[in-house]
Amino acid sequence: TGVVMKKDFISIQDYTPEELQSMLDLAIQLKKEYFSGGNPPLLKGKVLGMIFQKPSLRTRVSFDMAMRHLGGDALYLSPNEIGLGQRESIADVARVLSGYVHAIMARVFAHEHVLELAKWSSVPVINGLSDYDHPCQAMADALTIIEKFGTLKGVNVTFVGDGNNVCVSLMHIVTKLGGNFTHSGPEGYDMPKQAVELGLQFASKSGSKVRFTRDPHEAVRDAQVIYTDTWTSMGQEAEAKEREKVFPPYQVNEQLVSEADKDCIVMHCLPAHRGQEITDAVADGPHSAIFPQAHNRLHAQKAILVRLFQAG
Ligand code: CP
Ligand code: NVA
Repeated sequence: TGVVMKKDFISIQDYTPEELQSMLDLAIQLKKEYFSGGNPPLLKGKVLGMIFQKPSLRTRVSFDMAMRHLGGDALYLSPNEIGLGQRESIADVARVLSGYVHAIMARVFAHEHVLELAKWSSVPVINGLSDYDHPCQAMADALTIIEKFGTLKGVNVTFVGDGNNVCVSLMHIVTKLGGNFTHSGPEGYDMPKQAVELGLQFASKSGSKVRFTRDPHEAVRDAQVIYTDTWTSMGQEAEAKEREKVFPPYQVNEQLVSEADKDCIVMHCLPAHRGQEITDAVADGPHSAIFPQAHNRLHAQKAILVRLFQAG
């Protein structure tokens, strides 16, 4: 399509609406191709190095399978393997690994660490989740919403719960692509100010509406997408008890879903903590999109990989 990409995929905020839309179009095409005979080996001979400082099911397996389906390969590096920033500095890891693999995917605690990797790496770096954001998740989420509603433009997306990494990336992709975004969560658990300000800028460019309310009932009125995530993200385990006291009013249960648009879908990046942020009845109910959404990680990431390798 002639869209020139950046070297790295670190944050949704770094990409223009056109670039994001172009990647989503490619994801739709690759998904269709995959289910009608398979993808051509666009990444033949390419290897993705995958650094994980935290556990993962979806990110690990979907990236690995994405590389294989495209004729390439992936290498999993577990938390205690390379000791990113502990056994060896991030700058040294980045420069060494750049000579062995063709791209690096990293799941880190501190967002600065993925930025540091990208700074020193000569191959593309993909953010597979940091404490700030989760851009690969947002690509799969946008794909899922577009499959259901045909577009993101004008679609009412409500995130109920913690203003965390998943919430930040979701707000950014929704506002970039002209959807309306609402966040509802308890005081003290808002998104970082800087992330909110960026989202408001994207919204004013695309014409989307943004709302913040402490009242989850008000937040889901007219919602076409209700999204939630864990109350306690990886790395925040020490705060779990405290969080379990304030988040129960923000549980996505049948009552809350019944207050939204009757054709709404319910989304969750997973893993789900059933009985906390979401109930079984909702996760397994008629509005749930959580499994197609998880499967879309595969297709969205193929598009990210293909675009980055085309750029490199
Ligand atoms: N949604 C998501 O990123 O899942 P994993 O933590 O299992 O990769
Ligand atoms: N917010 C969650 C997402 C997990 C995919 C976390 O960071 O643990």
